[in-house]
Amino acid sequence: MMRSILSLITVLAPLIQACPPGWKENGEHCYFFSLETGTWAYAGSYCRNFNAKLAEPMEAADVVFIDTAVKSTHPRIGEYYLGGGDFFIEGEWIWASTLSPITNANWSPGEPNDLAGREDCLGVVLSGLWNDVPCNISLPFVCELENDFGQETIG
Ligand SMILES: *[C@@H]1O[C@H](CO)[C@@H](O)[C@H](O)[C@H]1NC(C)=O
Repeated sequence: MMRSILSLITVLAPLIQACPPGWKENGEHCYFFSLETGTWAYAGSYCRNFNAKLAEPMEAADVVFIDTAVKSTHPRIGEYYLGGGDFFIEGEWIWASTLSPITNANWSPGEPNDLAGREDCLGVVLSGLWNDVPCNISLPFVCELENDFGQETIG
């Protein structure tokens, strides 16, 4: 009995996958666009409170989704932190969770420019393009979750 309930749930799980309320769905990922602001470190810990991370859009579809959402959803709020930076070696941009090189950067023209030698974190500006920003200023941010809650809960 238990067994057949479990297999029924396993069959249905893909149908009930959904992002949490307030998150936006794009394929395998859920994204949260914060209204509050903080430093890059604050933003990362905020996301991790929900088993999420700062967004690391590695696929073209995710880049387009985030850039479009930033352009259209919160037009007044400034730029958003993403989960990357050139933290350790100037000019070598990496994703924070994997430390792997960012190979698909969608930079604004003239960026990254490491203004005043202080811009080591990745942001997406309201035009939808990417910029290097200081890590210690207060910005909104984008969190990312895998869109597999059905599986996680059951499995
Ligand atoms: C960020 O760090 C720089 C360099 O340490 C400092 O000069 C600046 O005042 C800081 N900015 C904020 C908003 O804390």
